[in-house]
This record gives sequence, structure tokens and C-alpha cells, in this order.
Amino acid sequence: MALRFLHASDIHLLDLRGVRPWRYLNKRFTGAINLALKRGRSHDHRVFDAMLAAGAGLGVDRLVLTGDLTNLALEPEFALVQRTLAGIGLPTTVIPGNHDAYTRGSERARRFEAYLGEFMAGERLPGAGGDGYPFVQRYGDVALIGLSTAIATPILNATGRLGDAQLQQLDRWLAELGAAGLTRIVLIHHPVLEGVAKPHHALRDRSEFAAVIARRGAELVLHGHEHKLIEGELPGPDAERGVPVHGISSGTAVSEKPKYRARFAVYDAGAGRLTRTLYQWDGAAFERVGESELRARP
Ligand SMILES: [Fe+2]
Ligand SMILES: [Fe+2]
Repeated sequence: MALRFLHASDIHLLDLRGVRPWRYLNKRFTGAINLALKRGRSHDHRVFDAMLAAGAGLGVDRLVLTGDLTNLALEPEFALVQRTLAGIGLPTTVIPGNHDAYTRGSERARRFEAYLGEFMAGERLPGAGGDGYPFVQRYGDVALIGLSTAIATPILNATGRLGDAQLQQLDRWLAELGAAGLTRIVLIHHPVLEGVAKPHHALRDRSEFAAVIARRGAELVLHGHEHKLIEGELPGPDAERGVPVHGISSGTAVSEKPKYRARFAVYDAGAGRLTRTLYQWDGAAFERVGESELRARP
């Protein structure tokens, strides 16, 4: 059985109604100023609506969102995301991004998981730590492996971290799912290629992640965070074939700059087959801008 899914990221849906002023007396103070000046104008929910309409027309089976669904990790934002995703009529998989654990309080409360746990249902290794990550969702010949790099960080810092418990479980899952012949698709918010993110924006344990991929392999790694298109490869266990790594831009961006335009990708994944079709926002609609055949399990 094949899976046709839509990958989008960094939708940063905004709803701050009813938030008391004291909730901004922390890292959110700079975040709220940033929102007022910039972010509130650079993302538009209607672009996400247009994406979902396009996805429905393309017959996608599932929506996959790789984090930063909110801005300040406040309850009204998560409630808006939950309402939106529950109402779109399309099965959805999510993982958190750094904005979804924006403050220590939101991280401690596990607010992302509390509001959006229904979109992360799946298999987990019992008693293995990692706070519920990775989770694995199997759809026929395809396995989605969801990771969390979301940690609360100081002001002006947007780094992420997997930690040893997740890395060890990822190693085990990739070995097991690979032995079962599944097309393994790893979902992570932060970029994993060297040199893509500035140090204050990067995944801290990306070399440890790369070591797991080099040892166990995967058919595809998908991420967000940089709000632009990123394409590359990580070395896998087979010297002849790398593991494709795709970063997608924000799914609600209304930037004038071409590199930050909103995009989404549709993947057709099945045994021995993996293709991607890319779509880009042109200011009024999404247009198809390319198709590529990816390497998959032979
Ligand atoms: Fe983001
Ligand atoms: Fe991010």
C-alpha cells in the first residue's frame, strides 16, 4: 500500500485572544515584539487554507507538519491549531518545533502534547524515555518516525536537541523498520545538514543524529525551521546512495522574497518507490514547480 502525503511546516498560526499581559513577562516579551513588528504580517492563515484545498484536489491521504505550529506556545494558539487540524477532514501527523516549546512553562506543561497528542498516536518503545518520542506510524509499506527537537531556550536562541534517549530509540526503530522492508521517513523540526543553520538556530546534536543515519539508513528525512527550501543528503550505510534530506519553507509565508515563499511538497511513498512534487505560492495560488524521483529501497 502506498501513501500520498503532503509535507508542510512552520505554519505559525496566531491566536492571542484572551492572553493576560503577565504571560508576556518572559522570553515571550521579545517574541511578542517580534510578532507585532514582523511575524504577524509575514504569515497568513489563508495560505494554509489554500494549501489544504490544493492538497484535497491532489488526493493526498495525509498531512504531515514538521513543527512550529504556534508562535509563543500559548493555550489559545494550541487550541486554534487543534481546532484547525481536527476540522480539515484529512488525517494529520505533527511533531513539535522550537516555537511550540517557547518557554520553560510550556515545555514543563507539555502543552504541545496535551493539545495535539491525537495527531501523534503511534507505536512507542515501552519505558525507553524520550518523553513519548520517537513515535512510529505505519501505513502499509511506509513508516513515519516522529522526533522532537523542541526545547525551551534563552532569548534569541532557537536551537534544538534530541538527547540520548531519542537517539538510541531512533537507532532501534530504523534497524527494525529497515529489516521489515518499510520505507522509513524521519520527521524532525531542525535541519540536520551541516552548515544549514546558524549556531544559535541549529540542532545541537546533529552529528549524533547523522551517525545514527549513517549506521542504520533511512529513505527520507523531512524538516522545517529555516523557512526556506533545503535539499541535500546525509551519508547512509550504503556508500553508493545517500539519504535524501528535504527542508520545506513555511506553509503560511507571504514573503516577497522568492526564497522564503510558502511551499509544500507531495510525496508518493511505497515499497521501492518515492517521488516528490513541489508546489510554491505565487501570491494568489500554489503552482507546481517541479517533480523528482528519489532513491528508495530497491
Ligand atoms: Fe518556524
Ligand atoms: Fe523553528
